[in-house]
Amino acid sequence: MAESKANTKKLYIKTYGCQMNVYDSERMAEALGASGYEQTQSPEGADMILLNTCHIREKAAEKIYSELGRYKGLKAENPALKIGVAGCVAQAEGQEIMRRQPLVDLVVGPQAYHRLPDLLARVNAGKKALDTDFPPEDKFEHLPVRPQAKRRPAAFLTVQEGCDKFCAFCVVPYTRGAEVSRPPARILAEARALVARGVREITLLGQNVNAYHGAGAGGDWSLARLIRALSEIDGLARIRFTTSHPNDMGDDLIAAHGDCEKLMPYLHLPVQSGSDRILKRMNRSHTAESYLKLIERIRAARPDILLSGDFIVGFPEETDADFQATMDLIRAVGYGQAYSFKYSTRPGTPAAERDQVDEAVKTERLHTLQALISTQQRAAQDRMVGKTVSVLFERAGREAGQMVGKSEHLHAVHVDAPDLPVGSLRKVKIIASNSNSLAGVLLPE
Ligand code: SAH
Ligand code: SF4
Ligand code: F3S
Repeated sequence: MAESKANTKKLYIKTYGCQMNVYDSERMAEALGASGYEQTQSPEGADMILLNTCHIREKAAEKIYSELGRYKGLKAENPALKIGVAGCVAQAEGQEIMRRQPLVDLVVGPQAYHRLPDLLARVNAGKKALDTDFPPEDKFEHLPVRPQAKRRPAAFLTVQEGCDKFCAFCVVPYTRGAEVSRPPARILAEARALVARGVREITLLGQNVNAYHGAGAGGDWSLARLIRALSEIDGLARIRFTTSHPNDMGDDLIAAHGDCEKLMPYLHLPVQSGSDRILKRMNRSHTAESYLKLIERIRAARPDILLSGDFIVGFPEETDADFQATMDLIRAVGYGQAYSFKYSTRPGTPAAERDQVDEAVKTERLHTLQALISTQQRAAQDRMVGKTVSVLFERAGREAGQMVGKSEHLHAVHVDAPDLPVGSLRKVKIIASNSNSLAGVLLPE
C-alpha cells in the first residue's frame, strides 16, 4: 500500500561545495525517500535537516557551524527535529561536530551515506549516530534504484571518487579517500535510466575524473572509452566531465575531444599556479611548461575548446615573482572561465606547517588575478556574438517569456521564446553579450 501523505516526513537538504556533493545530495534524498522522507525547500517545518558539507577552505567549514547555530530555535519548537551533517566536514571533523554542536543527531561521511536509513533508525531510538568509515562495499550498489520521476535535462553522474595525488594544500584525499572508479556497466545503466527520464546532457563527475579506470568488458576502461560508449546512447545529446588533472589527460581523451561529437568543447583543467617552484612545493608533479604544451595539444584536437581553470594565490612562500609567473601563464592560455582562491590553511595538510603569506598580500593578488580572468572571460563571451550556437534549454528566465539554456561552451544563453519546452535543444543566433550571459534569437528548426 502506498504511504499516506500524513505519514510523510519532510527532509530539508542544504548542499555546499562541489558538484559531487550535489550528486550525493540527490542520492541521499532518494535513500531517505525510501524511509518516508520527502524533500522540502525550507528548514522551517522540516522533520529532518541534513547539511551536505565542504571542507576545502576554512570559510567553507566555518559556515557549517554558523548554519547549525541557526537551527537552535527550530529544535526548541520541534524537539523531534533531527539534524544531520554529511559530506567532507563530517568526514574531517565528525567527533568535533558532535562536541561543538550538541544539536547534531547524526554525522555521516561521504563514503558511508548508503547506511543513512540504519543511522536514522538509531537516531529515532534516541541515540546519536556517527559513521565516517570508508567501508569496503560499493555504496552505489547499496543505494536504492534511482526513482522513475521525470528529470531536468542536465544531470550529474559520479563515475570516480577520491584522490591519490595529495597536493600539499588539499583535504580531498583525506575526506573522500583513495581513488575508486565505478564499473562502466553500472555507469552506462545509470546513464540510460537518466536519458529515459528526459536527461539530454550528462556531466561525468570525479575528483580526478580523467584518472578514471573502470573494470569493464575487455579490461580496464579509460574515461575516453567510457565517453565513447556513452555517446552510443540514443537521446543523450551532450557529454561533459569534471574535474580533470593535467597529468591524467591521456592521448585517447585528447583525441575524443577532436572526434567525439557529443563531447562538448569545454574543459576544466586546474593548474593552481604558473610558478614551477610553487608547483613543486604544491606537489603537483607538472610544470607550467608541460601544462602549456598539453593545452596546445588539446587545442590542436579541438581548436574552439573553451578552457577553465582553478588558481590558488598566496600559497606558502609565494613571492611576487611566483605570482607574476601565474599571471603570465593565464595570459598565455586565455581562459574562458576560472575559479580562484586565496590559499586557506587546512589542518593536517603539509602546507599548513609552512611560512604563510600575509593576508593583505593574498587579497591584493586575488584581485589582480580576478581582474585578468574576468577580462578573458568577457572576451571569450563577446567572441560568440554573431555566431550560431546550439543551446540546451534548462529553465524559464527571470523575465516573462524568456527561456535560459547552456551553449556547448557552457555559456548561459537567453532567448525570448515563451512556448519553448524545457529540454529543447535548438540553434540560436547570438545577438548580444551581457555581463554574465549571452542573448540570442531562436532559429527555426
Ligand atoms: N580535484 C580537483 C579540484 C579539487 S578542489 C583538482 O585537482 O583540480 C577545487 C579547487 O579548490 C582546487 O582546484 C583548488 O584550486 C582549490 N583548493 C583546494 N584546496 C585549497 C586550499 N587549501 N586553499 C585554497 N584553495 C584550495
Ligand atoms: Fe586535491 Fe590535488 Fe587531489 Fe585535486 S588532485 S583533489 S587538488 S589533492
Ligand atoms: Fe568540498 Fe569535499 Fe567537494 S571538500 S570541494 S565537497 S570533495
